[in-house]
Amino acid sequence: MKQPIGVFDSGIGGLSVLREIRALLPNEDLLYVADSGFAPYGHRSAAFIIQRALSISEFLLERGAKAIVVACNTATAVAIEKLRQKFVIPIVGMEPGIKPAAAISKSKVIGVLATEGTLNSDRFSTLLTRSTENLEIIVQPCPGLVEQIEAGDFTGSATRALVVRYVLPLLARGADTLVLGCTHYPLLRTLIAQIAGPAVHIIDTGPAVALQLQHRLVTSQLHTDNSQLGTQQFWTSSPLERQHAVISRVLGQSIQINPLPSIDNEVDKT
Ligand code: DGL
Repeated sequence: MKQPIGVFDSGIGGLSVLREIRALLPNEDLLYVADSGFAPYGHRSAAFIIQRALSISEFLLERGAKAIVVACNTATAVAIEKLRQKFVIPIVGMEPGIKPAAAISKSKVIGVLATEGTLNSDRFSTLLTRSTENLEIIVQPCPGLVEQIEAGDFTGSATRALVVRYVLPLLARGADTLVLGCTHYPLLRTLIAQIAGPAVHIIDTGPAVALQLQHRLVTSQLHTDNSQLGTQQFWTSSPLERQHAVISRVLGQSIQINPLPSIDNEVDKT
């Protein structure tokens, strides 16, 4: 089916997932919304995030989306049930990769880097209760990191200092595996790997989500039979010039980006 797939995040973090989708499903047309004007979601109220997720999903559906990828751990944790109640198309979300981390860790101490919103969610608590025994899971909220990434600072001293502050204490407690539980953090993977050192495993669930999406498209007979390279369209809720530069840099190509029309003004901006 030649309708597009909608992908959204609080900002540019979901591009780490979009890249994986593009690599696995190159013929699919993709729509991407970066809600950067409202990032970070991490410390926002559940009501706010649910409202944004519903409005952005409606926007994507109006543009013909046949499936939606919530390329944001925070929005998945807080809003995916509501999205699934409201919309009948396949909706694929993120989940911190504790299971793959447990499988690869030798020390059985795992550090999870994520936003407060994800770590405080019921969904994350349930994930913890389902995880293997004999596993020590240390959670680490990372305030400030999403802001650095949104500003396009992937290697500077302020970003490095934050990564050092959040990662080194996990290693000191014996973690040999780090779960990137926010889609922005894979954009810092090189820096995180540099600071953590070569012996530490880094888990990013982007590739698994792309596979899950492929599975959902095939089983619902929604996959494209297009043999050309699919198109990509981008919208942002923050100033265009800034986003154009950062998104083009992340994707390694100059992309065209459109302003996200005002999709709701009624939300409580907390
Ligand atoms: N990329 C979002 C996530 O995966 C970022 C969260 C935020 O905006 O705080 O959780």
